[in-house]
Amino acid sequence: MTILVTGGTGRLGRPTVDALRAHGHTVRVLSRRPGPDHAVADLATGAGLAAALDGVETVVHLATSRSKDIGQTRMLLTAMADTGAHLVFVSIVGVDEVPFAYYRDKVASEQAIAASGIAHTIIRVTQFHGFVEELLDAQRRSPVTLVVPGVAQTVHIPEVAERLVELVETRPAGRVADFGGPELLTLREHAAQWQAARGIRRPVWSLRLPGGFARAVREGRLTSGLPGAGRVTFREYLARER
Ligand SMILES: NC(=O)c1ccc[n+]([C@@H]2O[C@H](COP(=O)([O-])OP(=O)(O)OC[C@H]3O[C@@H](n4cnc5c(N)ncnc54)[C@H](OP(=O)(O)O)[C@@H]3O)[C@@H](O)[C@H]2O)c1
Repeated sequence: MTILVTGGTGRLGRPTVDALRAHGHTVRVLSRRPGPDHAVADLATGAGLAAALDGVETVVHLATSRSKDIGQTRMLLTAMADTGAHLVFVSIVGVDEVPFAYYRDKVASEQAIAASGIAHTIIRVTQFHGFVEELLDAQRRSPVTLVVPGVAQTVHIPEVAERLVELVETRPAGRVADFGGPELLTLREHAAQWQAARGIRRPVWSLRLPGGFARAVREGRLTSGLPGAGRVTFREYLARER
């Protein structure tokens, strides 16, 4: 099958491209920059998009930009309208419950896809292990590690990539079951595991922030519940990424 992966140069995109190729698919990477097997295109302007989609049977849409997701999704939907291709879209668990502009855009993208008439599959995923690690790594030189009170159910990216291969190889299914990690951990527990794995010893302080997003994290609204589909724990991820 010939597959176009938007965001194929990103965190989730790179392992997804590798997994699709390992399963024998022909993969084209949509990127704004040239590279091996890249179709150079820009979802913000539409430049290059028609050529990128030529002959493609499935599109895995992983491209994201902080404030322009809905515009880019609409651009993709318009370009895909007459292609007959299957669109697989990754969203985020809890987007419709959390008042946050980036999440509102994700909900709008889900709705635009569902209303488009294009054969599609939508999967919501919890935060990646690496995303939480990036937030903690940014504090590596800080005398304290700050976390917000709340829980997360982080997931290993290669497991999400394998799930996307399954969805690509299955008929369009609309919204499918959420994909979450194997554990519910407080962010304080994430910080403690990260410190232990990286040989860092600092006080961990909980910072109670105002606002709807912080409240949603406190209430665990970004989690999919147990049992999660992922198997690799945050601690195992940290040991692998040493
Ligand atoms: N981070 C998390 O914990 C998490 C959790 C659940 C779901 N998700 C979702 O998973 C998806 C992938 O996230 P990620 O963290 O892997 O993304 P990422 O690493 O930030 O990568 C973003 C990608 O978007 C592409 N892109 C941005 N603007 C573009 C444009 N105008 N035209 C074409 N491509 C453009 C970039 O490609 P080039 O720079 O090569 O052009 C890049 O490959 C997103 O939808 C995200 O919301 C993330």
